[in-house]
Amino acid sequence: MTSTARGDDAPPFTLSQEAQILKRSMMRELIAVTARPGIISFAGGLPAPECLPVRAWGDCMAETLAEDGPLALQYGPPYPPLQTAIARLMAGRGVTVDPEQVFITSGCQQGLHIAGRLLMDAGSVAVIDEAVFPGVRQAFGGPAHLLRTVSSDVDRGLDLAELEAALRQEPRPRALVVVPDFHNPLGRSLDDADRDQVVALAREAGVALVEDDPYSLLRFEGQAPLPLLQRAPERTIYLGSFSKLVAPALRAGWLIAPPGLTDKLRVIKESVDLETSAFIQRGLARFLDGGYLDDHLALVRRTYQARCALMQEALTAHFPAGSRWTRPEGGMFIWAELPEGVDTLALLPAMVDQGVAYIPGAAFTPGGAARAMRLNFSNAAPDRIVEGIALLGEALGRVLGG
Ligand SMILES: Cc1ncc(COP(=O)(O)O)c(C=O)c1O
Repeated sequence: MTSTARGDDAPPFTLSQEAQILKRSMMRELIAVTARPGIISFAGGLPAPECLPVRAWGDCMAETLAEDGPLALQYGPPYPPLQTAIARLMAGRGVTVDPEQVFITSGCQQGLHIAGRLLMDAGSVAVIDEAVFPGVRQAFGGPAHLLRTVSSDVDRGLDLAELEAALRQEPRPRALVVVPDFHNPLGRSLDDADRDQVVALAREAGVALVEDDPYSLLRFEGQAPLPLLQRAPERTIYLGSFSKLVAPALRAGWLIAPPGLTDKLRVIKESVDLETSAFIQRGLARFLDGGYLDDHLALVRRTYQARCALMQEALTAHFPAGSRWTRPEGGMFIWAELPEGVDTLALLPAMVDQGVAYIPGAAFTPGGAARAMRLNFSNAAPDRIVEGIALLGEALGRVLGG
């Protein structure tokens, strides 16, 4: 009899090697633990519930059914008016793109998965941030792939000297995955000079650049640097998403790759989910063309700016001396590093008992970032932000013996 390593609850058949080692990411586990009713949660990357465009989206969907009839409920190819509307959105970010080049996905996570399938063979190497959204590891770090990580610092951002070494090391990597705007979890963005250097290093190494960009349109302060896509269109696979721009439940986004790859992208996407819902695509085209997105983004940016400022003030007032944190100009996250002696993973159960939650650094950097935490500022109401940070600050003070 052939035997397979099995736990007590293993099924009576053989799982793939990948499935045998698959585990829920620590972040998903923690988000489940921290989703208790009534808790002040800085854990998930959730939009402000008050801002979700319930009415406007309802109008767009009703209009879609009334005007497009059965077509809205059929299988359907990429919807040209949505491709055109996205090309216009990208023009607003300084990117010139032909609407036909806009490949519709079911969100950035699917874009990461498709890019991984497009670029990686067994044994291929991808270069990623040391602290990174776990979905990047899931898409590029399958059992047959190797991940090479580059560290970032709260003040300096991505370590470009480390990046250069990682790109030059043998075996040469296939892909460099970057979140240049309002990084998850760091909240930092790469400036113009850093972007130019990232592009120059990627060109020298001959790698594909995967630009994962769910957040850049959530900028509420400062100037937006040009995306990597516009700087290096010949090697960038750009991923955009409507999850944070409109609503996560739409499960819709887009991918822009160098010309000539559309057929391959289509075959990979077909193997995953055939196509992105025609109903949602048509509703989104109306949401963008009808000016709803502009109004919605104006509200979201105002709301997030106020919440971020409030959290910054509360951190200054309540966090222990020696703490450092990022000061994002957009997005949804602040990354805080606490003084020596704090273990944010060990502290979390006690904090959840007291009614406040965050994601410990270790969820993003396996085995590392023990003194760090990611704090989401978009989801909690203003009074809850102040209350939650004060509770956290008091607990940290006790841990540090203050
Ligand atoms: C950096 C990053 N990439 C990808 C995703 C996945 O986004 P989507 O909902 O578009 O699949 C997220 C979601 O939080 C993210 O933060």
